[in-house]
Amino acid sequence: MATARDIAHPSGDRAVSYSIDNSPVATFHSPLSGRNSFMDNVILSKAAQKQLKPFNTEDIKILLLENVNQTGKDILTRQGYQVEALKTSLPEAQLIEKIRDVHVIGIRSKTKLTDKVLREAKNLLVVGCFCIGTNQVDLDYAAKHGIAVFNSPFANSRSVAELVIAEIITLARQLGDRSNEMHRGTWNKVSAKCWEIRGKTLGIVGYGHIGSQLSVLAEAMGMSVVYYDILTLMAIGSAKQVPTLDQLLEEADFVSLHVPETPETKAMISNKQFEQMKTGSYLINASRGTVVDIPALIKAMRANKIAGAALDVYPNEPAANGDYFNANLNTWGEDLRGLNNIILTPHIGGSTEEAQRAIGVEVAEALVRYINQGITFGSVNLPEITLRSLTLDEANHARIIYIHRNVPGVLRKVNEILAEHNVDKQITDSKGGIAYLMADISGIKTEDIKDIHDRLDSLTSRILTRVLY
Ligand SMILES: NC(=O)c1ccc[n+]([C@@H]2O[C@H](COP(=O)([O-])OP(=O)(O)OC[C@H]3O[C@@H](n4cnc5c(N)ncnc54)[C@H](O)[C@@H]3O)[C@@H](O)[C@H]2O)c1
Repeated sequence: MATARDIAHPSGDRAVSYSIDNSPVATFHSPLSGRNSFMDNVILSKAAQKQLKPFNTEDIKILLLENVNQTGKDILTRQGYQVEALKTSLPEAQLIEKIRDVHVIGIRSKTKLTDKVLREAKNLLVVGCFCIGTNQVDLDYAAKHGIAVFNSPFANSRSVAELVIAEIITLARQLGDRSNEMHRGTWNKVSAKCWEIRGKTLGIVGYGHIGSQLSVLAEAMGMSVVYYDILTLMAIGSAKQVPTLDQLLEEADFVSLHVPETPETKAMISNKQFEQMKTGSYLINASRGTVVDIPALIKAMRANKIAGAALDVYPNEPAANGDYFNANLNTWGEDLRGLNNIILTPHIGGSTEEAQRAIGVEVAEALVRYINQGITFGSVNLPEITLRSLTLDEANHARIIYIHRNVPGVLRKVNEILAEHNVDKQITDSKGGIAYLMADISGIKTEDIKDIHDRLDSLTSRILTRVLY
């Protein structure tokens, strides 16, 4: 085995230390997750896959903060990595102290990985955000220093869809109001304007991960589903895509919003759209707070045009739990709270134990793929690159990974270095000035690997060179 080497960062401020080692045996295969995603098929389906590795796995140090779910910890521990898991985030000074030593850090939303913190992370290869958002990480700084960042944007889709189903029934039966009355000691048994949802039409705006899940659940409960999306998407079940938002608003008894926050979706439901909706229809927003013009909603509900609404997201949301949902946060707060048949929830659409577990699995698997195979599929800040896995039959293969600045002439220089060898497959892509190249070389000797590594490492375009073997 070659001895451990330091790979100097071009600016001299970052070093990754690893040893070239033989491929581990099949016991290092990634754990199967039970999911059936595209990546599972690409990465995990072949029995004879060769698990690459850059280090002795026990050399890989991982710091998990903020009580990352046990599912994620288990996957990383089973790989043989050294995992330290803490229940909380760390004050900046302690974080800087700890991050110097680790190859991987797993965080949730409270840990801020600023450029100041990342600058100290000399060995860091990858960040796992065990949550949806990534704005707690300086993604640009990370990319420029070859640190991949992964998150889990879709693991909670089902949780959101189920919440919306609950809200549809709750609104149709005015359950929130009845429950509030009972809490105040009032018995108010009414059936007027209370409805079954069977046979009603649900209009889904945005037929992505959540919208399509919701579609299946709603049809199972006897609803008709129409959806509007800027993309032409194949319907699930008997749902029907409509060509315009106008048509959806005119047809739907319930309108549920599942679009991302973009300039086009800002206030996409405002006075004009409430006018177009059926009298006595309902609005549900569990997407992003900016999508609904809330003063326009208040107006439409006061005019009895809209019979009920459920909001899980708001233009301004408090950073912590407490008595913060008041007029200081959003000027219309009091007016909103004073309406009948409105469900207000504190952005809990995706907050379930199952979603946390799924996030743990998804992010940990992405980390394992990146550490062991260099695959960036799902990365938010590096080009998304995958190559089919090497198999156990391919004995003398090495995978070269070269993260570099995307400047003219780099590929020529890289290929001059690789040209002397048998490149079985190679792929490269770039994003925001950073390029990621991955090449599998066969029939290679250990000394050749070292030579390739050192020559790539000396190119001025280099950000990070890794060799997986
Ligand atoms: N409430 C919560 O806790 C919670 C949890 C998860 C996600 N979300 C939010 O839910 C929303 C949907 O999430 P997702 O995972 O289904 O996203 P997704 O990317 O899978 O789907 C979004 C869909 O909206 C479509 N779309 C984009 N712009 C559109 C437009 N102008 N008009 C119509 N359709 C448009 C896209 O083509 C896509 O099909 C996002 O805003 C997300 O942030 C909320």
